[in-house]
Amino acid sequence: NAGIALVAKAAGKKYFGSATDNPELTDTAYVAILSNSSEFGQITPGNSMKWDATEPSQGTFTFAAGDVIADLAIGNGQLLRGHNCVWYNQLPSWVTSGNFDNATLQSIVKTHCSTVVSHYAGKIWDVINEPFNDDGTWRADVFYNTIGPLYVNTALIAARAADPNAKLYINDYNIEGTGAKSTAMVNLVKSLQAAGVPIDGVGIQGHLIVGEVPSTLIANMEQFTALGIEVAITELDIRMTLPATPALYAQQKQDYETVISACNSVPGCIGVTIWDYTDKYSWVPSTFSGQGAACPWDATLVKKPAYDGIVAGFQS
Ligand code: G3I
Repeated sequence: NAGIALVAKAAGKKYFGSATDNPELTDTAYVAILSNSSEFGQITPGNSMKWDATEPSQGTFTFAAGDVIADLAIGNGQLLRGHNCVWYNQLPSWVTSGNFDNATLQSIVKTHCSTVVSHYAGKIWDVINEPFNDDGTWRADVFYNTIGPLYVNTALIAARAADPNAKLYINDYNIEGTGAKSTAMVNLVKSLQAAGVPIDGVGIQGHLIVGEVPSTLIANMEQFTALGIEVAITELDIRMTLPATPALYAQQKQDYETVISACNSVPGCIGVTIWDYTDKYSWVPSTFSGQGAACPWDATLVKKPAYDGIVAGFQS
């Protein structure tokens, strides 16, 4: 076939893309596939635009690593998703241990978001990452504990002011199907809209398990798009308990097709990003012991059946 990105475009989607990370870019065989814009029309930096990378000490911004990814995408004619402005994880210790009061931390959030979003202007941004616990309550991180839920408003308003053309997203996992966490996200978007706070989309990460794809993908996406915002699947991978077998690969192919075809059938689902394209660089094995093989290309950069599942999903 012509390549997944072209198939996604033909289906009317803005992009199909992949995450990548700076250390991987010394692997020339890996980069050759990543840089094929027929396969990938979009790139997300896995780590190098996060807070610890971009503002390691207060007021000192370092964009060198993020710029490498941004320049790669530009050079390949690929879109870029910025990831991310405000997240509880991968924060420098000056943020987590600073004991800032509400007003000071709001000003820190504002400076951080406006600086990174204006540096990478014209992008889609995961402004807020993973604000909720799985039961739909707020994650009690340094931002929530100090500012309360209004840290989200502060970040989004700062991002819009920094770049009126940026698409501003809130991104989370375990919001693929309907349920308490998705309902919390719906309610957050409604409250932001009621308060006049800019919000353009919800990012549905999509870290899934073979054989366990939720049955409510479409209904769930539609409850977001009914609010007048867009959705994207931002970090798709579908892991299995190792060792991989032909039967697991066949189920994985089906599962990728199910997810992609759900996005395909919802007009407001603008695109899909996989959380790296190859098992060689997947985050899964180091986080979930005994699990892996979650990506559409194997660790030797050979396409798996999942690849054909993705193509079929966009052609559904
Ligand atoms: O930078 C240090 C390096 O100095 C050190 O030598 C090395 C030793 O382990 O660790 C390096 O940090 C690692 C970092 O990636 C950069 O490579 C961390 O240990 C490692 O935990 C971190 O993992 C990242 C993870 O987010 C952290 O939560 C993954 O690469 C990244 O793919 C993953 O991405 C997240 C999304 O941002 C949000 N959604 C979930 C997704 C998967 O966890």
